[in-house]
Amino acid sequence: MAMDQSLIKLVNKLQDAFNNVGIQNPIDLPQITVLGSQSSGKSSVLENIVGRDFLPRGTGIVTRRPLVLQLINRPAVPRANGEAAPPGSDKGANNPDEWGEFLHLPGEKIYDFEKIREEIVRDTELKTGKNAGISPQPINLRIYSPNVLTLTLVDLPGLTKVPVGDQPRDIERQIRDMVLKFISKPNAVILAVTAANTDLANSDGLKLAREVDPEGTRTVGVLTKVDLMDAGTDVVDILAGRVIPLRLGYVPVVNRGQRDIDQKKLVSAALNAEKDFFENHPSYRSKAQYCGTPFLARKLNTILMHHIRNTLPDIKNKIGSQLAKFQAELASLGGAMGESNSAGVVLQIITEFANEFRTVIDGNSNDLTINE
Ligand code: GDP
Ligand code: NA
Ligand code: MG
Repeated sequence: MAMDQSLIKLVNKLQDAFNNVGIQNPIDLPQITVLGSQSSGKSSVLENIVGRDFLPRGTGIVTRRPLVLQLINRPAVPRANGEAAPPGSDKGANNPDEWGEFLHLPGEKIYDFEKIREEIVRDTELKTGKNAGISPQPINLRIYSPNVLTLTLVDLPGLTKVPVGDQPRDIERQIRDMVLKFISKPNAVILAVTAANTDLANSDGLKLAREVDPEGTRTVGVLTKVDLMDAGTDVVDILAGRVIPLRLGYVPVVNRGQRDIDQKKLVSAALNAEKDFFENHPSYRSKAQYCGTPFLARKLNTILMHHIRNTLPDIKNKIGSQLAKFQAELASLGGAMGESNSAGVVLQIITEFANEFRTVIDGNSNDLTINE
């Protein structure tokens, strides 16, 4: 696991570096995307995986732009007595080792997760207006924390059919196109979210996932709202693959309901309640370790490792050709490589990355097997 973590960190670093010079995803890195109907619980699932409250959630269309979220595991910094406290620690609940940074606010560390949510809302409204408009322009956010697995997640607007507010008449197609852009990438891992109190056969998310991933090699089913199912019904048949089988299976979860959100129930309390729910429910008791958010997070990490391992040769090739391209470009410029020259900056980054990458891979090639 340790090696795989450092590999993912390298990949995230490269992506960041490219973002900083204005190039979006020059190499197709694995990302975990959510897909499903509006209000199926996509943002709630992502928030529980992160373990902190910071995503706008609620009934209706709340997520209106893609949010590319990089989680970066960073160990807590030990502090000596009397050492000056970093900015996060002077505000009660804030943890000095956990903060967010937006790409559009470089260098600004935000320790108050409520502020992160406010900034997502503010920047969403800036680009889309206040009246339910949508935009394909992503918000890029990094979260540093000792408590997360290193993963890149993408929150997306939900599939919807009927325009409301300022939405265009062809809202269904626009959202579909926006979502397709992320989930069609062959290395995107798709979390197909379906509320357990709706009919799986009608799941728009599953339908679309099947279109882009017919073999089901990168689609994980997530069943939300298991707590809202009618008494006497459960998702056991779905989990067993007897309804719509998925190669990577389904994970049932229980997120906070709207009342929990209104009453500001903490994510930690929600995760405890979820654990209690599955451990005490007659249908899930015997398989509680395969239920809930922690299992989903572990499953995702494992899938991501497999994915990166399988795409390594491809990533290496692409880095190689990028490198050649930039070298040719520089040669045609007479070799002048000023700091302000973005091709030069990218070249430098790629070179550094390629070296680091090689070191990690060569030093750990035996660890590239997945142990859950
Ligand atoms: P999204 O539109 O798919 O991103 O869904 P949200 O995460 O915004 O959630 C939509 C609504 O469903 C909110 O009111 C949530 O509180 C509620 N919700 C989501 N997941 C669950 C769940 O597992 N159980 C219950 N009871 N409510 C949920
Ligand atoms: Na919603
Ligand atoms: Mg949402």
